[in-house]
Amino acid sequence: MVGVTDTARAGLRDRAAALLRANDAGTWTKAGPPLYPHQWCWDSAFNAIGWAHLDAGRAVAELEELFAAQWATGMVPHIVFRAGPDEPYFPGPQWWDCAVSPAAPQIATTGICQPPVHALAVQRIWQLTPPERRPEIRGRIQALYPKLVRWHRYLATERDPEASGLVTTYHPWEGTDNSPRWDRALARIEVARPGPYTRLDTSEVGDPSQRPTDWDYDRFLWLVELLRRCRYDDERIHREHPFLIKDVFFTAVLAAANAALLDLADVARAGDDVRDQLSRWLERGQRGLAGRHDAGTGLSSDYDLRAGEDIRVRTFAGFAPLFALTPDAGQRAAQLALLDSADFCGDSRLRWRLLPSTSPAEPAFEARNYWRGPVWPVINWLLWRSLTLAGQHDRAGRLRRDGLRQIAAADGFAEYYEPFTGAPLGSARQSWTAAVALDWSSPGLPPGVMARRKTRRKM
Ligand code: SER
Repeated sequence: MVGVTDTARAGLRDRAAALLRANDAGTWTKAGPPLYPHQWCWDSAFNAIGWAHLDAGRAVAELEELFAAQWATGMVPHIVFRAGPDEPYFPGPQWWDCAVSPAAPQIATTGICQPPVHALAVQRIWQLTPPERRPEIRGRIQALYPKLVRWHRYLATERDPEASGLVTTYHPWEGTDNSPRWDRALARIEVARPGPYTRLDTSEVGDPSQRPTDWDYDRFLWLVELLRRCRYDDERIHREHPFLIKDVFFTAVLAAANAALLDLADVARAGDDVRDQLSRWLERGQRGLAGRHDAGTGLSSDYDLRAGEDIRVRTFAGFAPLFALTPDAGQRAAQLALLDSADFCGDSRLRWRLLPSTSPAEPAFEARNYWRGPVWPVINWLLWRSLTLAGQHDRAGRLRRDGLRQIAAADGFAEYYEPFTGAPLGSARQSWTAAVALDWSSPGLPPGVMARRKTRRKM
């Protein structure tokens, strides 16, 4: 941690490790009790990165446990309901009732998914595995790898029947809940009342202004009801569901994850057919994202399939080309300039130069409300990784330093932070924030290398 003493860094590492251990359920990690007591999809990937600094075997176990709940379609569910009845969460398994789908696993899960950060986690785990543990960990990665490929295949096919290279999301919970990206699409949905319900999140957090509104929740729950009526069948959902978004951030994470799987192909002893397939998905994703570039704003825009309209709102997701490690140097340069601009990290009111979830220049910006303004450490970790791989070492170094300062300046490991004051918000014991702190505070460890694109195509 540049500018922070070694003692402070060691103290932060100890506290982060202690939080992961406190939230450890043996083979999986509670995402952030009491607000999030179960195993979450993308949280698990970040948590595995944290565990990789403490115990490579425990890190792989996190992903093995998550993929044990993989659906027959290949989908990895957004929540696996593993906590017991004494740790309530709303909406729980009854609301989702995933048994209506023949593709659902035995264990209770939700019927949607989240961004596929998992291959990035495996890459980091392998990088951090000490030599004496490599034979064991390699074997376990080899067993996990085909499941990761099935996961990516699900996203590249069932979630993109148009073969556009862009992933279609079905629900705001598939990543960034109440982001203003979804405001217009949600406003268009006619909500029959989703039935009486009692939220637990607002009382857990104590300050409802940090959470989505009841208006949002009515729509979130109604969309679950509609997905359940479709029996979580992707074909039916594409035909009937009112909320279908080509999501540029989700797509960008998939592109980075395809590159990571290619990078791991030798470790996993993947065949040529798999390498070729991954390369094609990667290229298609990059092409799809290139088509979403808005020359006017310099950002990528999501696309609302139902309304047939671009979603033009300045959020972190607009930097999808950076997150996807775009090969287009011109686009990268334009995005870096925008990142530094007063609309994003260059806003002089920011406590730390970190990427907020929504631009402070955006009318919908709210400094304390979940995905509508606060800084999320995991998003900044993804950006740091991308900047490092793009050779932007100064920018990446500054981001990591400020990211660590932000976490160290507050007690606990918050879910998100107020951008102007640095105040910790949301869940106070969020595992993935501790995982990011562990990873960032390990000196001299750049993230995984870029894929070598070994396709060995047969001529
Ligand atoms: N983020 C959602 C929640 O707030 C679920 O993924 O509960």
